Amino acid sequence: MVNFKEELKKYQQQINQELEKYIRKEKCPEEILNESMEYSLMAGGKRLRPILVLVTYKLFEDNIEKCMPYAVAIEMIHNFSLIHDDLPGIDNDDFRHGKPTNHKMFNEATAILAGDGLLNSAYMVISQDLSKSNKEEIIPKMQVLQEYSIAVDRMLAGEYLDTEAEGKNISENELKYIHENKTGAMLKASVRAGAILANSKKEDLQSLTNYAEKIGLAFQIKDDILSEEGDEKILGKPVGNDKEAKKCTYVSQYGLTGAKEILDKITKEAIKEIEKYGQKAEFLKELALYIQNREK
Ligand code: IPE
Ligand code: IPE
Ligand code: MG
Ligand code: MG
Repeated sequence: MVNFKEELKKYQQQINQELEKYIRKEKCPEEILNESMEYSLMAGGKRLRPILVLVTYKLFEDNIEKCMPYAVAIEMIHNFSLIHDDLPGIDNDDFRHGKPTNHKMFNEATAILAGDGLLNSAYMVISQDLSKSNKEEIIPKMQVLQEYSIAVDRMLAGEYLDTEAEGKNISENELKYIHENKTGAMLKASVRAGAILANSKKEDLQSLTNYAEKIGLAFQIKDDILSEEGDEKILGKPVGNDKEAKKCTYVSQYGLTGAKEILDKITKEAIKEIEKYGQKAEFLKELALYIQNREK
């Protein structure tokens, strides 16, 4: 690998190009709804979930065309979760990706429907791909479909518990459960999707699942840290909002130093899980470090 940051950028561009293909631009009575879906989908996300699908797949197979629809779909689902997460009834946030959130830019009804639309678009992309697939491809692809639907189920559970926990004292285990579900499940599904589509062996799927569970939790701990001490201009979303909403986070539970120590420990554990792949998994290793050290 030449340079992690450059490689990451290349993947991000590749995903953006792929997503563009699914944007509906035709004139129609509901064109503002389509525009609001595009607004959030193309707002400048890091594309980590689809990148995880591709990179994990590439550990075993070369032709990434096969997993593109599944990379696109997980990013659509992710953006659905962000639009709804920002709504007044959930986190009530006004900024994301350095721009007004969907309900601020359009209105609440449009944002709710744009979120629903992106979730359904993911299933449209997958079902279209399935309808064109040959017999032996169908089983792994159906398994990924199942993984995604379970990840959405878990994400919703985590989001529910996250809002219910506001202002309360919860246990360490309860907090971990929220984070593993609201954020970890989607990251885990992304990694597993790549491995399943590449027909990886059981042991490989297990090691990669272990890696994914670690980076999934690490990702949300870092999100908690950035909500405490990030730079709003770089982050593109509010800082201090978790504290204001009395959210239960790794920072509220363990303090900044404590949260950073846990983050460091699980990042190291994540990297250990994929060490056996050596140079081939260099990008996944760098990605774990990127999650730990990112500023946005
Ligand atoms: C933000 O995810 C929401 C969480 C699950 C913490 P990302 O940081 O991956 O969102 P993008 O990069 O803006 O899409
Ligand atoms: C986001 O959690 C998780 C999902 C969107 C499912 P947060 O509410 O902590 O994330 P940000 O900080 O708004 O991105
Ligand atoms: Mg939230
Ligand atoms: Mg939020």
